[in-house]
Amino acid sequence: MTGQPNTEHTRQPYLPAMGKHWLLPLYDPFSRLAGVGRLHGQLLDRANLRPGQRILEIGCGTGNLLRTLGRRHPDADALGIDPDPGALRRARRKAARSKLRIRYEQAFAGELPLPDDSIDRVLSAFMLHHLDDDERARALGEVRRVLRPGGELHVIDIDGTPSGRAGGRAHRNARIAGSLPERVLAALADAGLTDSAVNGHSKARLARFVFYRAEAR
Ligand SMILES: C[S@@+](CC[C@H](N)C(=O)[O-])C[C@H]1O[C@@H](n2cnc3c(N)ncnc32)[C@H](O)[C@@H]1O
Repeated sequence: MTGQPNTEHTRQPYLPAMGKHWLLPLYDPFSRLAGVGRLHGQLLDRANLRPGQRILEIGCGTGNLLRTLGRRHPDADALGIDPDPGALRRARRKAARSKLRIRYEQAFAGELPLPDDSIDRVLSAFMLHHLDDDERARALGEVRRVLRPGGELHVIDIDGTPSGRAGGRAHRNARIAGSLPERVLAALADAGLTDSAVNGHSKARLARFVFYRAEAR
């Protein structure tokens, strides 16, 4: 999940799911081994989902979170965006196989193809640490713009604190250093989101993770 930004297929650099495009086929097996499905479930448990809501996942990758969401809430109106066309192809294929009505579009989180005040919930899983500080600020500004008043953002991301296993790499990897909870909370507040808070912690095989929530007013 870390590495050098890759410009393949887009005008803007981005860090793909496994750090390199050619590693994408390993993403789903890696996620299964790492216990990501349980963490996705824990994120959805916290997201106050209600029937009929419009839900957006930024950085949806191969679509595993929205597939779990679609199984739990078949009536949800769900859209996943990601800049990686290969990941989106996999996401669409899996949704079709599971007969789930989930839409996927190629986009950057910092430039959402959505009108203002149009989304009830924004979800983000293991994605914020793929963004540098500028793109993270743009992305959270876009989240603020598309959330309707009272809408909520729910995030899970790597815990960048030095006591976490991922934190041991913090001095080497600026993006993981940017995942210090205090820096994430500051970025949420800078974007104009309110009531931002750490909403729990979890552990999986490879690292520790933090849940965050925030609201739009
Ligand atoms: C580790 S994967 C997580 C995928 C998915 N959320 C999950 O939980 O399995 C991170 C994803 O963020 C995407 N990403 C990187 N930069 C992005 C950006 N600027 N905007 C939106 N997505 C981005 C990558 O292409 C990748 O699919």
